Amino acid sequence: MRMYDIIYKKRKGCELSDDEIRFAVNGFTDGTIPDYQMSALAMAICFNSMTDRETATLTSAMAKSGDTVDLSEFGELSVDKHSTGGVGDKTTLIVAPIVAACGAKVAKMSGRGLGHTGGTVDKLESIKGYKTETTVEDFFKQTRDIGVSVIGQTGNMTPADKKLYALRDVTATVDSIPLIVSSIMSKKLAAGAKSIVLDVKVGSGAFMPDLESATVLAEKMVEIGKHCGRNMAALITNMDVPLGCAVGNSLEVIEAISVLKGETVGDLKEICLALSANMVALCYKISYEEAYAKALHALESGLAYNKFKEWIAYQGGDESWIDDTSLFPKAGFIYEVKAKESGWIKAMNTATIGNVSSLLGAGRVTKTDVIDFSAGIELNKKTGDFVNAGETLCTLYTNKEEVISNAEQLYLSSLTFSNMAVPKPDLIYKTII
Ligand code: URA
Repeated sequence: MRMYDIIYKKRKGCELSDDEIRFAVNGFTDGTIPDYQMSALAMAICFNSMTDRETATLTSAMAKSGDTVDLSEFGELSVDKHSTGGVGDKTTLIVAPIVAACGAKVAKMSGRGLGHTGGTVDKLESIKGYKTETTVEDFFKQTRDIGVSVIGQTGNMTPADKKLYALRDVTATVDSIPLIVSSIMSKKLAAGAKSIVLDVKVGSGAFMPDLESATVLAEKMVEIGKHCGRNMAALITNMDVPLGCAVGNSLEVIEAISVLKGETVGDLKEICLALSANMVALCYKISYEEAYAKALHALESGLAYNKFKEWIAYQGGDESWIDDTSLFPKAGFIYEVKAKESGWIKAMNTATIGNVSSLLGAGRVTKTDVIDFSAGIELNKKTGDFVNAGETLCTLYTNKEEVISNAEQLYLSSLTFSNMAVPKPDLIYKTII
């Protein structure tokens, strides 16, 4: 078999056989197929797509390209969630303890942030002492002991995806449905959970710009997961507005803690309950309504907050920071961005807001950039809110005084105003099960 013929076949719009797909993935992983040939195949897939069978084969070949986690000792109770990436998305910090407080097992490997989106691992590391690197044995032991463990990706999992994602990033081949499906689902399948809930974001801060493409993506991921024996659900949610009011690592942790303490309600709490309820429903095979009641009880009784503290302490984090969030270090410069005009906020460009947060020091442009945990943005007004000229739109937190002026301009450029009332946007568009 020759990679040349596989590229040519896909370029002509023909269907690849399972053997051809496995040949390409295995050869690319072991280095016998060079980057330039894999890039050409990725581009041909972008133009000519893949059938469901081809996508399933690609996903499973990528999932098997490296180490896999076996969570079968937890039976039906192991559960994972995945967000396709958003701004202000700190849901794992709230959902994991809610679901664990309901008795399920959340053994999760999370990623770091890159570009305009944040990553759970960075957020957790903003808590003094929290360790995201651990042995696989400790990861399992913690899940057995307390039902929740969240670490960074360990070992040699899905090397095919790591290599291919890096190529796609620089060859304009990221936004292809079969390539996104296989990238996300290969990692989720390798991570081993029996039930998986996907949060597919749609809007200005997401990969998927419209509901139609997000629906296709979600349906295909759900189908592939089920085909591989997993219980699946996907929520399609709004990323035309940042989630919650905090963007930036420790600011987001503090906001998550305030939801767990019952001090903050609104979009963040609502989406976390919906995600948790779907996870609990899949694990226990109960109705969404029954699962929602369990999740709400876990949150409102304080069980989830206690579980969060237990989890953070188990991984070395300083519990006193959870009880008293004023212990998180503060940024040296705090600056309020004021509205230049009165009106309703009609739209927010969420990716731009993510970029403002990065500029302030909260994110990475390249993988090796060092994050400032205290940097970020607090949103005082969001889409649908009325603002008077001179009122605070948001508060910027940074240790780099020199970026404040650019950050302010960029933030203002992300907003569109209307002189007519604007309805509050929907939060959850649909659920696919
Ligand atoms: N997230 C991933 O992990 N892979 C993609 O291709 C897109 C988003």
